[in-house]
Amino acid sequence: MIILGIETSCDETAAAVVTDRREILADVVLSQLSDHRPYGGVVPEIAARAHLEHLDGLIARAMSDAGLSFDQLDGVAATGGPGLIGGVIVGVMTAKAIAAVRGLPFVAVNHLEGHALTARLTDPSPEGLAFPYLLLLVSGGHCQLLAVEGVGMYRRLGTTIDDAVGEAFDKAAKLMGLGYPGGPLLEKAAEGGDPGRFELPRPMKGRPGCDFSFSGLKTAVRNRLDELPPGPFDPVDIRDLAAGFQAAVGDVMVDRCTRAIARFRAEHPEGNTLVVAGGVAANKYLRARLTALTEKLGFRFQAPPLKLCTDNAAMIAWAGVERLQLGQTDTLDFAPRPRWPLDPTAKKPAGKGAKG
Ligand code: KG4
Ligand code: ZN
Repeated sequence: MIILGIETSCDETAAAVVTDRREILADVVLSQLSDHRPYGGVVPEIAARAHLEHLDGLIARAMSDAGLSFDQLDGVAATGGPGLIGGVIVGVMTAKAIAAVRGLPFVAVNHLEGHALTARLTDPSPEGLAFPYLLLLVSGGHCQLLAVEGVGMYRRLGTTIDDAVGEAFDKAAKLMGLGYPGGPLLEKAAEGGDPGRFELPRPMKGRPGCDFSFSGLKTAVRNRLDELPPGPFDPVDIRDLAAGFQAAVGDVMVDRCTRAIARFRAEHPEGNTLVVAGGVAANKYLRARLTALTEKLGFRFQAPPLKLCTDNAAMIAWAGVERLQLGQTDTLDFAPRPRWPLDPTAKKPAGKGAKG
């Protein structure tokens, strides 16, 4: 089975071709970073226009990289949400057009499901990663712990009550004058820094449950910066504060994941893997902290290769493979969904500004 995947839900325009034998035949990603950088964040209208301009060229390139023609495909999958609606519409309409013209099945993929199932595409073991597993999904828009029990079967154990962790990285980096997007820049700035020099909180640490909170940490970063001598920031101060921020996030992650692993184990004695996915999973410091935790607890740790942690279309094509194998397709009247929770039964967490 060969599936074309399309991703347009945020600021990456991407197309990929993936098989049911876990082969990535093509994987092209065009980042719009430079279009959005002057604004310090993603501008939805600019994103939608850029997707429209580049998507057909990227699909043509993916097909040529794979050495395939459209009639060799078994289906077309596109991100159907959640995300910036203008972009999602561009991807969904393009996928529907290809499906209609070629008479192929169309699959509308939940972007978060794409991140959640990537580990089953990339797991290095020959037999692949079996359900159930525990997933820490950490990106610019999401920060969740989920029990992944099967395709379409996700149970949320915890979520953020305010900012997503990638958002916290981006905001803290902006305060430190590091630029956009903040995650990778902050990680780089933290190299060699003293994480203990500045006092920063560990929000939610030690609390029952598996929810997260990051807005207090961002405020503390602002306060520590305000306490510095006036004038341009000293790079050593920024290095130490960035290291302190990363250490605080690491402590929170370890605490929340310890609880989630205990809960997951009680409910799923056969599961033994923690998967980390989403853009923040590219952070090497956090990966190291989580690897150490899982080793201590006798759990497996699996993180997709960095390129497949951030937004891409291979994960969408793979989710399309998984769904099509189960006969789950969508009709051509599928309506793009700006909001689309993976676990619709999960209650909104208590907290101001909770995103659910
Ligand atoms: O999954 P993703 O590409 O897009 C969303 O669906 O949000 O994640 C992007 C987020 C951004 O907030 C970015 O700053 C963060 O992931 N990120 C990182 C790193 N690389 C990307 N955060 C911390 N450390 C990194 N190395
Ligand atoms: Zn994403």
